[in-house]
Amino acid sequence: MARGDDLIVGLDVGTTKICAIVAERRAGATDVIGIGTHPSRGLRRGVVVDIDATTDSIRKAVDEAELMAGCEINAVYAGIAGGHIESHNEIGMIAIKDREVKPGDVRRVIEQAQAVAIPADREVVHVLPQEYEIDGQDGIKQPIGMSGVRLIANVHIVTAAVTSVQNVVKCCNKAGLNVIDIVLEPIASSEAVLSPDERELGVALVDMGGGTTDLAVFRNGSIKHSAVLSLGGYHLTNDAAVGLRTPFDQAERVKRRYGCAAPRLLRQDELLVVPGVGGRQPSEVSRKELASFLEPRIEEILGLVREELQTSGFHGRIPAGVVVTGGSSALEGMPELAEEVFELPTRRGLPGGVGGLVDRVQGPEFATGVGLALWGASRPGRQRFRITDRAPFRGIRARMREWFYGDFS
Ligand SMILES: Nc1ncnc2c1ncn2[C@@H]1O[C@H](COP(=O)(O)OP(=O)(O)OP(=O)(O)O)[C@@H](O)[C@H]1O
Ligand SMILES: [Mg+2]
Repeated sequence: MARGDDLIVGLDVGTTKICAIVAERRAGATDVIGIGTHPSRGLRRGVVVDIDATTDSIRKAVDEAELMAGCEINAVYAGIAGGHIESHNEIGMIAIKDREVKPGDVRRVIEQAQAVAIPADREVVHVLPQEYEIDGQDGIKQPIGMSGVRLIANVHIVTAAVTSVQNVVKCCNKAGLNVIDIVLEPIASSEAVLSPDERELGVALVDMGGGTTDLAVFRNGSIKHSAVLSLGGYHLTNDAAVGLRTPFDQAERVKRRYGCAAPRLLRQDELLVVPGVGGRQPSEVSRKELASFLEPRIEEILGLVREELQTSGFHGRIPAGVVVTGGSSALEGMPELAEEVFELPTRRGLPGGVGGLVDRVQGPEFATGVGLALWGASRPGRQRFRITDRAPFRGIRARMREWFYGDFS
């Protein structure tokens, strides 16, 4: 139990599942030492719609992670997504005080860049520096110590609806957890699945989850664009359920087991039996038929992402192509279909960059959770969000835990 400050916990509050990843920083490496997942009951399209149900799912996922890691979790890095997310790029400009850039100058120029009018109902989630310019010299990554008169910062600003941020924090708080930081989910996922050379050359990360499909574009090593679409695997399952005339949970089961992104990408066809709705007779369908129900929706979702890439001007500026991740990217043929839609090289992104229980977090659905832990490990910060409503049972739980794990030496 003697585990302390070097523990970082990523909490992915997803539409399909809540996932807590406990990581330990050790000699520069980040090791996963605990995982807890629980079906998510209180979110729709990436946004909390039921506080109590979400709190309960969070608590269960965290309990499981605590048990596996043998520690108590008090604070987390939490993810946020949803159609309310907006992002844009801004520029800040200041005079360098002593003709040499100090950390204070960098802070000031970033503050200046975010001094744009943000509506009262929106909250700044991220201000991410892209690059700096000193007296006309651009492309500077680390300006501290450089000489000059005028410092310019290009930053990427992500804002979210205040209420949506508050609801995520509220659920964590009610589950007895402090929130150290809130991180946009595609930004977190990119920490876990993108390589530094992809980020440098130019790459788009597409995280297709259950209720949302998220996009993050990187170039020259920094984030250039981000967006969240309110469509995901849930809609694929729904289409399959309607097409196969089978209950939703059965459609989900066959989609995960036998689904393919398009009939022509199937290496092998076979027949499956699916139960009917309302007690009707089961029916036989082929995998090709199932794929034919999934393909149009995937094309629709990826087509919208392509549009987003085109309107933001990045489609022709990502030579490293596209990396698809998130639970829905596990679908057979997904990278191949994405490659056709984007007309760019595409690969499936599995979480990496961590040690420890690596095999337990190998699926693309763990990209955000692992990414949140990596984000926390590389940016240890002060807590930004405070407990508002600490659950009274927390103290009792902690004490009971002491009895169970008591010092028997
Ligand atoms: N093997 C698989 N084949 C096809 N789809 C899959 C597979 N495994 C998971 N999925 C789908 O992935 C989705 C869940 O992905 P993920 O866990 O990344 O979502 P989430 O993070 O909970 O949701 P979101 O990020 O949208 O809020 C579900 O729709 C599920 O059906
Ligand atoms: Mg997700």
